[in-house]
Amino acid sequence: MDGVAVKAEKLTKFYGRTRGVVDLDLEVRRGEVFGYLGPNGAGKTTTIRLLLDLIRPTRGRAEVLGLDSRRDGVAIRGRIGYLPGELALYDRMTGGELLRYLANLRGGADWGYVESLAERLQCDLSARIKSLSKGNKQKIGLIQAFIHHPELLVLDEPTSGLDPLMQHEFHRLVREMTEEGTTFFISSHNLPEVERISDRVGIVREGTLVAVDDVDSLKRKALRRLEIHFASPVPREAFAGIAGVRDLAVDGVTLRCTVAGSVDALIKAAARFEVLNVVSPEVSLEEIFIDYYHGEGRAP
Ligand SMILES: Nc1ncnc2c1ncn2[C@@H]1O[C@H](COP(=O)(O)OP(=O)(O)O)[C@@H](O)[C@H]1O
Ligand SMILES: [Mg+2]
Repeated sequence: MDGVAVKAEKLTKFYGRTRGVVDLDLEVRRGEVFGYLGPNGAGKTTTIRLLLDLIRPTRGRAEVLGLDSRRDGVAIRGRIGYLPGELALYDRMTGGELLRYLANLRGGADWGYVESLAERLQCDLSARIKSLSKGNKQKIGLIQAFIHHPELLVLDEPTSGLDPLMQHEFHRLVREMTEEGTTFFISSHNLPEVERISDRVGIVREGTLVAVDDVDSLKRKALRRLEIHFASPVPREAFAGIAGVRDLAVDGVTLRCTVAGSVDALIKAAARFEVLNVVSPEVSLEEIFIDYYHGEGRAP
């Protein structure tokens, strides 16, 4: 068993003239959590559908668990768990009925495990699926992906619709499963989430993989927006010329800026005054991509 769980070589998909993904070269290592990050329309779902042989590539190829994605699609699907981006479930069943049905298709499953997952995700298995909220449907989708303890999980935007507490529980599940050797390929358009759960991140934009990086290295390069609220007005000069600080605006008791890389120097400068609050609003992916385009490797 080699160390590669997913491999794509020049994988390309055009929908007619619409670009899905182009010349994707990608390797996911066994046992890692690979975050596949990109804004809407970037090509995440297309990539996942290609890997699972749900759509055919225009050119290029992929391997999943050492098997050819097209030739061995059936064998691959038996060994992986998959959460589709647009989840379609049998509406008239209850969650429990659907999971039992899917478990039987998989040759039976450990029902105690299903119930423990449902409990952790606070998922009511007795409710009809059509009566469930988006988030609660998503939980059923997650449980069905985990049901047979697959060695690889391919999850397309798994936390969309989940409230923060359940997102947190999901992250814990991922961590526990990776300790048992499970590999994850998780797509997301949410950078903080990807930072939190992934070992490595691939950034996809307009159908092209623009970067693959360790999370630690991404964090060092990523832009952060910071807002610091002080007890009394602070002088702008106290914050001029700090490494990595851009777009500095000081307005009386409020400082706003963008920081590339470490926030250490800025925080130390701020600590000379009385700080009431520090807020870090989310930076859009677009801003991060701009940094990747214009500042690849820029020292923080
Ligand atoms: N079935 C389809 N037919 C035509 N175009 C599609 C289809 N699926 C996706 N696309 C297009 O391919 C591009 C990538 O889409 P997608 O893979 O769904 O992105 P993401 O999952 O990152 O939001 C988009 O421009 C989208 O409009
Ligand atoms: Mg998608």
